[in-house]
Amino acid sequence: MTDIIIKTENLTKNYGGLHALRSANFELKAGEHVAIMGDNGAGKSTFVRQITGVEQRTSGKVWFDGDEVHFNGPLEAREAGMETVFQNLALADDLDVPSNLFLGREKRLINLGPFSILDNKYMRRKTEEGLKRTGVKIQNLSNTIRNMSGGQRQCVAIARSATFASKLIIMDEPTAALGVQETAQVEKIIKTLKNND
Ligand SMILES: Nc1ncnc2c1ncn2[C@@H]1O[C@H](COP(=O)(O)OP(=O)(O)OP(=O)(O)O)[C@@H](O)[C@H]1O
Ligand SMILES: [Mg+2]
Repeated sequence: MTDIIIKTENLTKNYGGLHALRSANFELKAGEHVAIMGDNGAGKSTFVRQITGVEQRTSGKVWFDGDEVHFNGPLEAREAGMETVFQNLALADDLDVPSNLFLGREKRLINLGPFSILDNKYMRRKTEEGLKRTGVKIQNLSNTIRNMSGGQRQCVAIARSATFASKLIIMDEPTAALGVQETAQVEKIIKTLKNND
């Protein structure tokens, strides 16, 4: 069971009377790279939200890296080594690239709650490393997300997950809103990530 990174057993989610996900049984080995396919409304995003703790499942079990888990939110999943690129991306439009990578896990030089001083140099360096690792090219890291194309935003979200994920990256339709070239770029990034680890 040790080489199985994630496993679900009878994972079920109902929204009131709507059965969005029924008894999903899934297993993924470390080093594997798989796609889950299904129609619009099939339950793919719902499946991702139950694993990552964005929502609380109706029933079923989840194991991650050998332990049975029940994450209370995506932050807990992140801390355990699971990063997710959500379908709606969840980037902050008004922030630049490093601030988005470190959103919610900012590196502080001095920690005084709201009066903390952020270690911008460190975050910028780590961002550059993360982008390099994924093969993502972004001209100007100080650009705010608002001024970026759909493909560039997607790349930032993927670079963020790749920078922090230690065990698993989940991407929910990473190419749905992209053109042919950007899709090819995202596929290249996924291959680069697989080859790196
Ligand atoms: N918060 C919610 N409340 C009620 N119903 C929901 C909610 N989220 C999803 N659903 C329903 O659950 C079902 C599965 O939706 P889900 O978003 O998981 O599909 P999907 O496979 O990700 O589709 P897509 O390919 O369009 O992204 C759909 O019938 C949807 O309407
Ligand atoms: Mg979806």
